[in-house]
Amino acid sequence: MNTRLLHEQDIAEAADIILKGGLVAMPTETVYGLAADALNGQAVAKIFAAKGRPMDNPLIVHIADLSQVTELVREFPEKAGILAEKFWPGPLTMILPKSPRIPDEVSAGLDTVAVRFPSHPLARKLIARSVPLAAPSANLSGSPSPTTAQHVFHDMNGRIDAILDGGECTVGLESTVITLATPVPKLLRPGGVTLEQLREAIGEVELDPAVLHPLEEGQKAASPGMKYKHYAPKADVTLVKGSRESFAGFVNERADDHAAALCFEEDIPLLHIPYISMGSSQAQEEQANRLFALLREVDEKGYRIVYAHCPSRTGIGLAVYNRMIRAAGFEVIELA
Ligand code: TXA
Ligand code: MG
Repeated sequence: MNTRLLHEQDIAEAADIILKGGLVAMPTETVYGLAADALNGQAVAKIFAAKGRPMDNPLIVHIADLSQVTELVREFPEKAGILAEKFWPGPLTMILPKSPRIPDEVSAGLDTVAVRFPSHPLARKLIARSVPLAAPSANLSGSPSPTTAQHVFHDMNGRIDAILDGGECTVGLESTVITLATPVPKLLRPGGVTLEQLREAIGEVELDPAVLHPLEEGQKAASPGMKYKHYAPKADVTLVKGSRESFAGFVNERADDHAAALCFEEDIPLLHIPYISMGSSQAQEEQANRLFALLREVDEKGYRIVYAHCPSRTGIGLAVYNRMIRAAGFEVIELA
């Protein structure tokens, strides 16, 4: 298959591909998504094939107008209304009881559906000209999510019909996922809308244990995506918790030809090993914005071992931590 590279002026062509049951990678404010007609099960099945995604991992349905939610869900509780009012369009996904119109391919057999109203103008235009779009991140399953059209091209060239280039994603990490299908709302994946903001808006919100810890043997994932190894470069990543000095001491002792530090700007003067900087340890939005591109850079530069300095877990830092600990396959070293 020849993958076409499209731009804003080609939006009608992109919509046409979707309406004919094809696949288009589209920019969103979080990461690029691999989109198909959400109500066409056969089209949605192609997404799983192109990504190599396990069929038991459900997809998010993207809308461009609040009125579209009614055909997708059976219930829209009051708290969903409050969150929609506050955070849509934007990086928030809500899990709700699904309507019978949602194909099984989208919900992976669950009784719920994930819905998101993205803010990126090109995503909104594409949906407005076509239909609600099922879209996971547009990377090969297991790789870091793409934040540029070039990342998508690297993973998906020859596997999908087109890539709509909308520049670099501004948030850089996938949306916050919250379920409202449980008695108490629960955060399943942290993202651009923070746990603090959610609690301020609707009161009690539980934190799913899988956000911070690996699933125990036999434990069922509330969000199936959480059980897979994820966001990982080919290099072996270890997350290192400790001060600037202890982190530098630890990595300097392990300097060799294939090792690098994924560090904060403040660490740099202390390091005697190659490094890739995530920016200031205080600039959490910048860390979020850069993380996935940096994980790809690790492989481009040929590093085989990466020691990543652990970020702070407040605000959007919780989302950065959640992705990094998965990129590290939960390999964590705590220094004194
Ligand atoms: O920012 C984003 O959310 C991006 C852009 C493209 O919108 N999309 C994205 O999709 O990250 P994906 O498929 O990579 O991640 C969706 C996550 C997965 O962990 C999946 O298991 C979970 O949402 N999910 C989807 N539907 C669900 C459901 N009904 N119940 C529980 N978890 C669900
Ligand atoms: Mg993904």
